Amino acid sequence: MNIDRRELLAGLGGMGALALLSDEAKADALEHHLIAQTNAPAPFPTAGEIAQQIDTQPTRKGVGNLFVARQGNVKRLEPLPEKQTLQDYFQLRFTATSNHCLQSANHAMKAGMSEEVVLACLLHDTVQELIKVDHGWWSAQMYEPYVSDRVAFAIRYHQALRFYADPEHGYSYPDLYRQIFGSDYKPEPYIEQAYQSVRRHKWYLDARMVTVNDLYAFEKGVNPTLDQFTDIIGRHFRQPREGLGFDNSSSAHMWRSLATPDHPL
Ligand SMILES: [Fe+2]
Ligand SMILES: [Fe+2]
Repeated sequence: MNIDRRELLAGLGGMGALALLSDEAKADALEHHLIAQTNAPAPFPTAGEIAQQIDTQPTRKGVGNLFVARQGNVKRLEPLPEKQTLQDYFQLRFTATSNHCLQSANHAMKAGMSEEVVLACLLHDTVQELIKVDHGWWSAQMYEPYVSDRVAFAIRYHQALRFYADPEHGYSYPDLYRQIFGSDYKPEPYIEQAYQSVRRHKWYLDARMVTVNDLYAFEKGVNPTLDQFTDIIGRHFRQPREGLGFDNSSSAHMWRSLATPDHPL
């Protein structure tokens, strides 16, 4: 642990006061100082401090999970079976995001939310395997050919709504965002515009419920399985006969990029 000598001395009343203390009293003072340091919440970084980290890392923050290793090297991936389904992607490609999304969908299901909200929660962050930046928009685009407009809407706008509290519906601004965006972060104008246009939309609550079920879906040791969502997927997700990535849909290339992320070009 780093000890800030100046802060410690100031707390004791300066060098003069320190000289008057016995060795035992000095040891006590040091112990008190360390305890106070341990208990004090770490201050959130500012948006400027986060920006200063950009050129200290080998990858950009917006890159998808499948394309970088957080530790060591990336792993060889098992090929997907032919005519790959959403479940195959969950099992073999959504390894960094599936637990969070399953927890989120599990919360929504337990709270008795609609099947479309449960599905939106289940899918909402999975595109982060491909790309993280602007993931609400990317994710909605990837799923649009296969889900209802309402589910795509909820997925797209959860990204903007998460920056705006809605205590009436159980959503407060999370500390996690103070940590990762900075304590003084102000959403960019396009996010603000999206929020203003969505907050009075007839499907606002669908997108809002994705943010509500997002908050508590990071629990360690909680591992809901995909099986419990099989019926909802069957009713609300159009699995293409050719397999996801090979049906010539407008987002087939995104699925292929997930299927074969080791292709160099
Ligand atoms: Fe998200
Ligand atoms: Fe999320």
